Amino acid sequence: MSQKKQSFLDFRHYKHQDLVSLFQTAQGLREGRDDHWKFQGTAALLFFESSTRTRISFESACWRMGLGPILLDINSGSSLSKGETPEDTILNVAAMDPKVVIIRCGSDLDLEKIDQEVKPPIINGGWGSKGHPSQALLDLYTLWKERNLEGLKLLIVGDILHSRVASSHFEVFKTMGVQIAGCGPAIFKPKTPIPDFQWFDSLAEGLQWCDSVMALRLQLERHSEQVQLETENFRKNYGINKNNLSLLKPTALIMHPGPVNRGIEITDDVFNDSRCRILDQVNGGLYVRMALLKRVLEGA
Ligand code: CP
Repeated sequence: MSQKKQSFLDFRHYKHQDLVSLFQTAQGLREGRDDHWKFQGTAALLFFESSTRTRISFESACWRMGLGPILLDINSGSSLSKGETPEDTILNVAAMDPKVVIIRCGSDLDLEKIDQEVKPPIINGGWGSKGHPSQALLDLYTLWKERNLEGLKLLIVGDILHSRVASSHFEVFKTMGVQIAGCGPAIFKPKTPIPDFQWFDSLAEGLQWCDSVMALRLQLERHSEQVQLETENFRKNYGINKNNLSLLKPTALIMHPGPVNRGIEITDDVFNDSRCRILDQVNGGLYVRMALLKRVLEGA
């Protein structure tokens, strides 16, 4: 394989300056200043799990960067239904010489190994509970373009244990100086120690501590029945709503990676709060993914 291949499975190759440079590229694209990159060829999107935001924003990003996106999703009818494995599916699609392969899959797939076996670079579009690095990038970009990140205190509320988004946040946010704390019932607390990570059992205390807050969806599909019974309890004690928003700083941003379960982790009121950036995250995600494609394809 070429030494120059720049797959994006996690943040191991991303230092502070790489992140700033990527965000500056995204900002230029968003403001319509830097839209002259026109790649040629195809991009394969292989989504073995459901997605709306990641899939559509990568498809849009590919079109806007001059790449033709070719999509295979779990529901689209493929030879997976005839017993072909996801690994063989990836190897076969990669053999058609796309410029890049964007994959969403479960933790059971070994993307590191597959990356060694295929010619095109791979982008992680959400890998089981291991990580969702492009989501972490767009979340960080949402904060970066409005706030000074050095020393910024971010509270993540909810199901951190099962969240691939949170796994990627822990990997990259510290690089930009952001401190992360978690909040929720003890069953959602990470089981492995995370440096400089603190935990709030009380949502009120967490909201008063933080400079910005991110709510996470209860990952019901990854839970046992016993944990599912906690939903009502979670809504009452950890749901963000009009009343507890008053505890949050006026300058705080409110985020959620989506999909949102309205009425559980946040109420409808939250969307009307001037600090809410949930759709802004989605908008930024398009430009961050365009910038990411540029970096991966140019081997920056
Ligand atoms: N945030 C996110 O990954 O959303 P989708 O599952 O809809 O892609």
